[in-house]
Amino acid sequence: MTFEAMWRELLPVGRSATSGGYHRQPWTSAESELRAWFAEAALARGLELETDAMGNQVGWWRPVAPTGLPAVLTGSHLDSVLDGGAFDGPLGVVSALAALDVLRDRGFEPARAIGVSVFTEEEGSRFGLACLGSRLVTGATSWEAVSRRQDRDGVYLGDAVSASGLDPSGDLLSLVDVGCFVELHVEQGRDLVDRDVAVGVASQIWPHGRYRFDFTGEANHAGTTRMEDRRDPMLTYAMTVLAANKQARLVDQRATFGRLEVTPNGTNAVPSRVTAWLDARCSTDDALAELVETISRQGLDRASRDGTSLTVTAESVSSSVTFDLDLARDLAAIGDWPIIATQAGHDAGILSAAGIPTAMLFVRNPTGVSHSPAESAEMADCLAGVEALADTLAKLTS
Ligand code: HGY
Ligand code: MN
Ligand code: MN
Repeated sequence: MTFEAMWRELLPVGRSATSGGYHRQPWTSAESELRAWFAEAALARGLELETDAMGNQVGWWRPVAPTGLPAVLTGSHLDSVLDGGAFDGPLGVVSALAALDVLRDRGFEPARAIGVSVFTEEEGSRFGLACLGSRLVTGATSWEAVSRRQDRDGVYLGDAVSASGLDPSGDLLSLVDVGCFVELHVEQGRDLVDRDVAVGVASQIWPHGRYRFDFTGEANHAGTTRMEDRRDPMLTYAMTVLAANKQARLVDQRATFGRLEVTPNGTNAVPSRVTAWLDARCSTDDALAELVETISRQGLDRASRDGTSLTVTAESVSSSVTFDLDLARDLAAIGDWPIIATQAGHDAGILSAAGIPTAMLFVRNPTGVSHSPAESAEMADCLAGVEALADTLAKLTS
């Protein structure tokens, strides 16, 4: 089945009829449908399929005669952010399957096993920890550390996994035989389109984190309570959002408050509590710590003036990742592809941090827009990415 045919099969899964965006949250029916789709596509190619306790998957193409050489793993994720785009994640998975088809059409026989992987909950859109699946597989986190996480409806992680037909107490994928990981991903920026090239190689991933800001005040009547008598957490939150924007601009880094919960969220009441989540991303670990510290301090200062209180809790932190430069240069030389940095997190960052030599291939995004229904990529560029990945896998497994 061609890349285009696979792509068409995935397009309707988890797609909103109103926004056209994707709601492929992990351990929901949409993602279970994708997991079944991947299993069928892997088995249709005669790959040896593994599905672990959390639903992470890998399909293996093993050499005819075992060589004992470390395997090469390629793949990405199928889950999406809320109302996300079609390409972030799935492009890397479909391209990996299509790249194996290209290699087989070329009559290529790998000297080492090639695995196509799908890690679950890469976006952390349901349980708040980015790359949850790959963090568990690599040991970057443990089941004990995450099993008490709850989603927005209060569903515990273990119950969500069980409800989707998996057994969270089972074994996780083992990457002990993996010598190298290559993830193909749609670029989530404009570097390639501005350079007018279709494919790029990643040099690094900026450190980034997610922090929960709990602003607590005093519920009261919206009419009878004089302005000077209020302890309004919405005010403290509003000033903190403006401070985050200003501080990020001042140091040319990134800060976003994109998620908000107000209690009781009534029209005619001063709220008792406002919870907001900061996504901060900086070029270095120190800059990240400093930016979050500055924003938190300014929020606390404002809280003392508003008679409210603020607590800040780090929910997901990903340290700076510098990919194996020799590997990046080796791959870039295949097609004279540029080597570029990204501010987006990826499972590749988690595997790299676990000591597995890792590289990323980016495919041009004509608008740079991502985490949005408007995310796009030209089919010609997607097919160029498949060829690039096939050439990369051939080079790594010859
Ligand atoms: O949020 C990110 O950086 C990635 O898209 N998961
Ligand atoms: Mn993403
Ligand atoms: Mn992604």
